Amino acid sequence: MEQTLVIIKPSAVERRLIGKVVGRIEDKGMIISGMKMIQLDERILREHYAHLVDRPFFPDLVKSMTATPVIVMVLTGIDVVNVFRTMTGSTNGRKAAPGTLRGDFCMSGQANIVHASDSPENAKIEIARFFSPNEIFNYAPVDMSFFYADDEL
Ligand code: TYD
Repeated sequence: MEQTLVIIKPSAVERRLIGKVVGRIEDKGMIISGMKMIQLDERILREHYAHLVDRPFFPDLVKSMTATPVIVMVLTGIDVVNVFRTMTGSTNGRKAAPGTLRGDFCMSGQANIVHASDSPENAKIEIARFFSPNEIFNYAPVDMSFFYADDEL
């Protein structure tokens, strides 16, 4: 199965939305294979958001992403990168579709509550950036056969 990286951003931590985000992930049937609280800093954000370092809003992005600790998670599931990206919604919360995390919980293009890897290749790189192998757990919940058909597993 595929894996993706999630960051529950300071904008969600401040607003006590961790439980709601985690609840939606669990309700959907994605497996939480790793989860911890960490404090981000400018060094790791320059790496994680390398494609944005030269943009004028980058200093504000660093400020918002370091305002509190964050929750980082590894999710496992079939096509999970695409599934969680769709569930996250478009970057700007004001344009994100209702029903998505950003569409339901935020009004901002920066304070947009979650990060979701955008491709399986980037997910591998991002997971390795935030997790060591012994922090990722390979287990199969007993209800998997109720979330997937036999020929999908
Ligand atoms: P990006 O990788 O373009 O979007 P996404 O998070 O949807 O994959 O941007 C990363 C983060 O940078 C985005 O979640 C919030 C911040 N950002 C801004 O603050 N202003 C902007 O104009 C853009 C494009 C992004």
